[in-house]
Amino acid sequence: MASKKILLSGVKPTGRPHVGNYFGAMKQFVELQNEFESYIFIADLHALTTVQNKEELEENTAGVLLDYMAIGLDPKNVTIYKQSDVPQVAELAWIFNCLTTVPYLERAHAYKDAIANKKEPNVGLFDYPILMAADILIQDTDVVPVGQDQKQHVEIARDTAQKFNNAFGETFKLPDVLILDQVATVPGTDGRKMSKSYGNTIPLFATDEEIEKAVMSIVTDSKLPDEPKDPEKDNVFALHKLFTEGPEFAELRDRYEAGKIGYKESKEILIKNIKKVITPMRERRQALEEDKQAVLEVLKSGGKTARERAEKKMEEVRKLVGLKLY
Ligand code: AMP
Ligand code: TRP
Repeated sequence: MASKKILLSGVKPTGRPHVGNYFGAMKQFVELQNEFESYIFIADLHALTTVQNKEELEENTAGVLLDYMAIGLDPKNVTIYKQSDVPQVAELAWIFNCLTTVPYLERAHAYKDAIANKKEPNVGLFDYPILMAADILIQDTDVVPVGQDQKQHVEIARDTAQKFNNAFGETFKLPDVLILDQVATVPGTDGRKMSKSYGNTIPLFATDEEIEKAVMSIVTDSKLPDEPKDPEKDNVFALHKLFTEGPEFAELRDRYEAGKIGYKESKEILIKNIKKVITPMRERRQALEEDKQAVLEVLKSGGKTARERAEKKMEEVRKLVGLKLY
């Protein structure tokens, strides 16, 4: 039997995940966990570029682990770990740094945005894509499921693999990005990309009240219930695409076009359907939280597996580069 291809992805522990993270990336981790040999990690070293508070980072990291388990990642199928348990990625990132030019990294979106917003980015933010390349390449990854905003980073990982292979010989696989078109960019309550930094999110494990408040705040135009509406231009309908299924969805589209529904009712239907998706996951998360220590064991054992694989790869890399004399 041919061995399974390798899938790897990660989420930064920078606060509560939202439904954009879920549909854009995390749901794929769950759906693909049997088809691939999967490595899913918590990018705590990347989070250090913005979170510089011990308690906050610790809490967020344990939080992402609970999130992963609550959405249905099974540690029997998936190696779940935290990035900092694989220090070899930082070592590999350094080697990649020395093959990467400054002008090349200056073209990366996250860095360009920071400059455009007149922020003074730290070196960690500048080097973010190279650490990410190391995460991906060190595990011989074939596919990386992410949202649209991470596409460029996976391309940088491919470029970096090629640069290394050209300089030192075939060593790294070129990874492919895996992006689902329909959910590449999940919109937030204001129609822009859902993002913590825009304050337009629906948290993935939201309480009923939070769901109601977020949906009621969705920005719409001022069309009356009996006016025909273009569903493709409505922020409420954009979220129905994720949460409302089958005949109910088809009926909704017809009612929009025929001018037979107002935004208030559309929002009420959306609230009902979001609750249907979120409630069981939220309850699972609460149950897991009861025994956080046992859950943390998952990270320890995943860390060991990921680290051992990475160390094997690094042995090869050190030899090729000329760092291993004995
Ligand atoms: P982050 O929280 O930045 O670590 O993002 C985790 C994952 O969620 C990444 O794969 C992102 O591409 C994805 N993601 C974040 N926001 C969205 C969004 N609004 N729509 C789709 N995917 C998203
Ligand atoms: N940069 C990713 C994000 O913000 C997180 C991440 C770090 C990642 N390293 C990765 C994702 C490697 C996929 C593969 O979402």
